[in-house]
Order: sequence, then structure tokens, then C-alpha cells
Amino acid sequence: MDIQWFPGHMAKTRKMMEENIRLVDAVLEVVDARIPYSSKNPYLDALWSKKPRLMLLNKVDLADPAATNQWMQYYRSRGFSCVLIDSLHGKGVAEILPAVKELCRDVLENEKAKGRLERPLRVMICGIPNVGKSTLINRLCKRSEAAKTGNMPGVTKAKQWIKLHGNIEMLDTPGMLWPKFENQTMGFKIASIGSINDDALELYDVACFILEQMQLHYPKLLTERYKLTAEELQIKPQELLLIIGRHRGFLQSGGRVDWERAVKMILEEFRNGKMGRLSLERPVEIEVQNA
Ligand code: G4P
Repeated sequence: MDIQWFPGHMAKTRKMMEENIRLVDAVLEVVDARIPYSSKNPYLDALWSKKPRLMLLNKVDLADPAATNQWMQYYRSRGFSCVLIDSLHGKGVAEILPAVKELCRDVLENEKAKGRLERPLRVMICGIPNVGKSTLINRLCKRSEAAKTGNMPGVTKAKQWIKLHGNIEMLDTPGMLWPKFENQTMGFKIASIGSINDDALELYDVACFILEQMQLHYPKLLTERYKLTAEELQIKPQELLLIIGRHRGFLQSGGRVDWERAVKMILEEFRNGKMGRLSLERPVEIEVQNA
């Protein structure tokens, strides 16, 4: 499967970000805690290289806690500020604004030392589609009784500025991917969390990828969820998919397994956490891959 994914509106988002980077003091990047490396936009690394950046690992309720801890250490040891959040239930969200203030402390203190008037901190929030950015913004708005302010002076139109508690203004940006994924596995991971339109993908390959990851890292959860035997756990993911489909009774006339139904079920159960708390990558794998 060769996924190349950069529709026109994402190119426009990129331009909008480039035009507005000078207006903000810091950047908040929302990633999915199940794939905190693959859901982090490499294009932004270059764009934001001079701005303080806060990584928000969202959906921690769906991710493997051990892997999430490793990712926290990984990013912190590389100089990123990092907050773990579950935007759906609001966990960790209260830590974000204090972390933003801390991130921008030097900028504000420098300005104060120069006798400049106190001003709102401005941040940009970004993330690839479906990482939970809108859910998080709604949470932040509720906490702050925030007002969406629409256009502001010096800002090109059609962007959303949001006033938050603590004299912070946040520029929302549409979900954006990048033109070409590093490798096929990265494409599978991004597809697994639903960040690419399902129509554009070979979902069969993505479901097999999820099963393979479970066989490797979460065999107990896999056997418990789909009532598998020890032998079934060892077979190829393509065959395992059929066995799971059969167990679930997804049969067509003639007794053949309806594999498309099994594929949809695997994706849905992974995405909504029914298989348990799973992560699809760990720092050690990425370090080996990038060595
Ligand atoms: P986006 O703006 O980044 O595109 O994402 P959005 O907030 O729309 O969230 C995408 C889905 O993820 C939503 O599910 C939302 O409820 C869920 N979500 C967001 N944050 C969290 C979190 O911390 N934990 C969990 N478990 N879920 C979270 P949805 O409405 O069912 O949409 P969909 O998955 O059917 O697209």
C-alpha cells in the first residue's frame, strides 16, 4: 500500500501556518498517544524550529501506559515540554495553560525588562486529523468560558482565534498531514487511528497490521478479546482475521467469512479502545528504525 496524502486544503493550511508563525509565541502540537512519533508532523519541526513547543499526548486513556511513559521520557529528554491528556474525559487538560505560561516565561520576562506593556500570550494549536484537537479546544473553552473571536488585526481571514483563561489567545488550525509518509508502516499507523479518509486506503492491510501488532505486543488482550487458542495466536494476521470473523459469525452464503465485515470490526474496536489500552509504537523501535 503506497499512501500519498496531501489534498489541496492541507496545502492551504500549511500556507496559513507559515504566514502566521510570526504572530505566535509558542506552538501546541496535539498527537495521538498510541502513535506519538508517527502522528507528529515532521514538516512542523522545520517550521517551528525557533518557537517553544508543547507536545500534548492525547487519548492516553486508549494507549498502553507503559509505552506512554517511555514516550514522555523520550520527548522530555529531547527538550520538548510534554503533557499527557485525555480530552474526552478532561484528564490532564488543567495542566496545559500553566505549561504554556512556563514555556513562554522567558519571552514575557524579557519584554517586561524592556518596559513593554503586558500583552496576551499567543499560541497556535495544530495536529493531524482525528487526534482530538476539536475535543480538546472545546474542553479548554469550557474551562476558560472562552469566546471564539474570529478574525483579528494583522491576521489573514478565515482563522479562528480563541480567548482562553490566563490572558492566552489560541489560533486554531485545520488538521494537516504531510505529502509523503516515511514508510508504509507509518501509513498503516496513521490509518489505524483514523487520520486518513478510510476510502483512500486498503483497510484490509491496516486491519492485518493492527492484528500483527497485537500478536507481537499484546497477545493476552488479543486472545481474551477474540477467544483464540495458543495455536491461533501464532498464525499469519491474514488468516487470523478470517478466524476472528468466523468466531464472530460474519459468514456469507456457502459459509465463507465476510472478511470486509471483520476488517471494519477490527478497525472500529481498535479505534474506540474495545481491545484494551494499546500503543502501536515504542521509542526503542523508532530509534532502531532511524539508526
Ligand atoms: P480532530 O479535531 O483532531 O479531528 O479530532 P476530534 O476532536 O474530532 O476527535 C476525534 C475523535 O476522537 C472523536 O470521536 C472524539 O470524541 C475522540 N477523542 C478525542 N479526544 C479523545 C481522548 O482523549 N480519548 C478518547 N478515548 N477519545 C477522544 P468520535 O466523535 O467518535 O469521532 P470518530 O472517531 O467517529 O471520528
